[in-house]
Amino acid sequence: MDRLKGKIALVTGSARGIGRAIVERFAAEGAEMVISCDMVETEYSESNVKHTILNVTDRENIKEVVKKIVEEFGRIDILINNAGITKDGPFVRMTEDQWDSVINVNLKGVFNVTQAVAPVMTKKKYGSIVTLSSIAGLMGNIGQTNYSATKGGVISMSKTWAKELARKGAQIRANCVAPGFIETSMTHALPEKVVEGMLERIPLKRMGTVTDVVNTVLFLASDESSFITGETIAVTGGMVI
Ligand SMILES: NC(=O)c1ccc[n+]([C@@H]2O[C@H](COP(=O)([O-])OP(=O)(O)OC[C@H]3O[C@@H](n4cnc5c(N)ncnc54)[C@H](O)[C@@H]3O)[C@@H](O)[C@H]2O)c1
Repeated sequence: MDRLKGKIALVTGSARGIGRAIVERFAAEGAEMVISCDMVETEYSESNVKHTILNVTDRENIKEVVKKIVEEFGRIDILINNAGITKDGPFVRMTEDQWDSVINVNLKGVFNVTQAVAPVMTKKKYGSIVTLSSIAGLMGNIGQTNYSATKGGVISMSKTWAKELARKGAQIRANCVAPGFIETSMTHALPEKVVEGMLERIPLKRMGTVTDVVNTVLFLASDESSFITGETIAVTGGMVI
């Protein structure tokens, strides 16, 4: 229960879903403080969780939040880039707004936050950056030209950071987690036939759970994965092999 003992972690997009589960798990794993960031107000509370409004598209807002964390805690050991949106549509009819808004949050947002946090990690020569990619970033997905571009993009950005941020002996790692078909409110709303079709293509014949994803994020965030960098772990039940 203390796999993150003494760590300061920042998690984006933590008001609900996977982000919220990451914050709760990190707090339970003994993190010194989990800075839970979302563009909307968040309610749940723990003594080692601090909620902050942070919009990943607002570089000034990010700068202020990171400055405050450094003033209070002196470092950021773990960054989880989790905030993400979808605006799906057929490629030939995808609007410029659909393209721009998904790129702005899922790709540029990850760039913005990591660019603000990386110098803090570099100063301490230590850090673990974990970014939520997706099976769509590995395989593509019909109706998700914009989303899959961002989820592929974060994988290659992370590989670059794995090389660039580790210079001069810094133990700074950058990895991705690519969830597949995960049980969430979104998948609960899918017609039974669609779910059956999906399960056909998953060797383990079940949907993943949020806990499956959080376990993998925790492993990559913690020192248990201290020799793993530039990697993407697919949490897909074998759908991508
Ligand atoms: N749920 C899945 O099945 C699944 C599968 C593959 C990948 N993912 C990825 O995992 C991550 C989390 O997914 P989820 O299902 O929990 O999503 P979700 O929609 O439930 O939650 C996303 C959170 O991000 C926040 N957010 C959106 N835009 C933001 C911004 N500009 N700044 C700050 N916060 C913002 C939202 O307020 C929300 O709280 C996403 O990156 C998603 O692409 C999810």
